[in-house]
Amino acid sequence: MSQHKVMIDTDKCVGCGICAKTCVAHNIAINDKKAETVLDDCLMCGQCAAVCPKEAVSVSGYDDKQIKKEENIRLNPDDVLEVIRFRRSVRQFKQEKIPREIIEQILEAGRLTHTAKNMQDVSFVVLDQEKDRIEQMAVSLFKKMKPFADLFSPMAKNNKITDHFFFFNAPVVIVILAENKTNGILAAQNMEFVAEAHGLGVLFSGYFTTAANASRKIKNSLEVPRGKSIAMTLVIGYPDVKFLRSAPRKKLDVTYM
Ligand SMILES: Cc1cc2nc3c(=O)[nH]c(=O)nc-3n(C[C@H](O)[C@H](O)[C@H](O)COP(=O)(O)O)c2cc1C
Repeated sequence: MSQHKVMIDTDKCVGCGICAKTCVAHNIAINDKKAETVLDDCLMCGQCAAVCPKEAVSVSGYDDKQIKKEENIRLNPDDVLEVIRFRRSVRQFKQEKIPREIIEQILEAGRLTHTAKNMQDVSFVVLDQEKDRIEQMAVSLFKKMKPFADLFSPMAKNNKITDHFFFFNAPVVIVILAENKTNGILAAQNMEFVAEAHGLGVLFSGYFTTAANASRKIKNSLEVPRGKSIAMTLVIGYPDVKFLRSAPRKKLDVTYM
């Protein structure tokens, strides 16, 4: 049984049907000029509550209220593209602390990101004090695996597994846990945008993510709950590198049909 419920205030409802039309689950019907839910169970996405012009619909059981949208915030598409064009993975960081409010805003971007089936299955582990200890576990694991990787990849052979191979001495690392990996990665991308807007640099650490998912010991240290795995790991800090040119990318590969 869901802990959430779609609530319809029949005194306020005028039976306009906008909620029923918007509901992807076809879970709202209009009877006698009033909206009513068909089943108690649904996605609980809250689109019905978001479109109701009379504030007659709400979804119970969520910690935060649905905030009224006051103005149409529009990003300039050219600016957005420029941000994407010039964003780079950062692997050199200043030893400068990131204010707590900024970390919280980055986490908020993750929390607010949409999820498949509205699972809201994404959670976060912020590594600060425990960062080096946990990185060392991954370093030990990779050192054991390296001889095998070296056999298959000249690039792996050329790579040294140093003590800071995964986190590059960054002040903060955020490990993103999810049941559905795609959900976690979407959160990661939005978090990166907010971090970048604060002048921070970010690295997606696929290597740490792989090491952590392969190690029961690391997963226990990160307190990964049953059913979840590590979707992505964000290494974050103020960049100690300045990129003067955009990233080289292949030409657009697209088929219109
Ligand atoms: C999913 C993902 C995982 C990555 N994992 C690592 C990693 O473990 N270590 C690393 O140094 N770079 C990692 N990167 C960074 C990529 O190597 C980098 O994005 C790519 O070389 C292009 O460079 P740019 O991000 O500066 O444009 C990862 C990137 C992505 C998208």
